[in-house]
Amino acid sequence: MSASSAQQSSEFSNANLEPLLSAEQIQARISEMGAEIARDYAGRNPLLIGVLKGAFVFLGDLVRATDLRLAVEFMAISSYGAGTRSSGEVKIVKDLDVPIEGRDILVVEDIVDTGLTLSYLLSNLESRGARSVKLAALLDKHERRLREVRIDYIGFPIPDAFVVGYGLDFAERYRNLPYIAVLKDPSQD
Ligand code: IMP
Ligand code: MG
Repeated sequence: MSASSAQQSSEFSNANLEPLLSAEQIQARISEMGAEIARDYAGRNPLLIGVLKGAFVFLGDLVRATDLRLAVEFMAISSYGAGTRSSGEVKIVKDLDVPIEGRDILVVEDIVDTGLTLSYLLSNLESRGARSVKLAALLDKHERRLREVRIDYIGFPIPDAFVVGYGLDFAERYRNLPYIAVLKDPSQD
């Protein structure tokens, strides 16, 4: 961090962040998504699985917008390999502690980018005998897709840019932004 940026008082607003979706826009869309999920799962008892770490903020708001009897679990996934590019080989770093046979599963993810992570995770969960497996993703960067993934509940389609905030990070930074921003220059951290 340079001396001048160290003196900047705000983490939530700096020259490297270009606002894309405001906190108000996000909350309004999540209210609609929660209402839709509550309607679709009426009378059922779905298990929402948050994908760590990026989905933790979205999941927190989504469950409070979903008036339904539901349960919450978390999984953590990582791509094999040291590079920044996803190899398509995916590893479960934290697995579920509960069986999901016969359960209605709703995977909750921050963003679908190439789709490699989610296509692996969704088929893995299906193979465990879940009754249904659906996906809710806050952001859909569709231009980047390498593997087709059906997203049942989409918050916002976004252009091909690197975004941070509202759970999404760059090198673990910016997860706490209350809104979503494009990170203009990742080298200038
Ligand atoms: P993919 O769909 O397998 O390529 O991987 C999606 C994962 O990559 C997401 O769950 C995020 O953790 C991360 N990711 C992809 N695009 C972005 C971005 O623009 N900002 C922050 N993380 C991202
Ligand atoms: Mg993620």
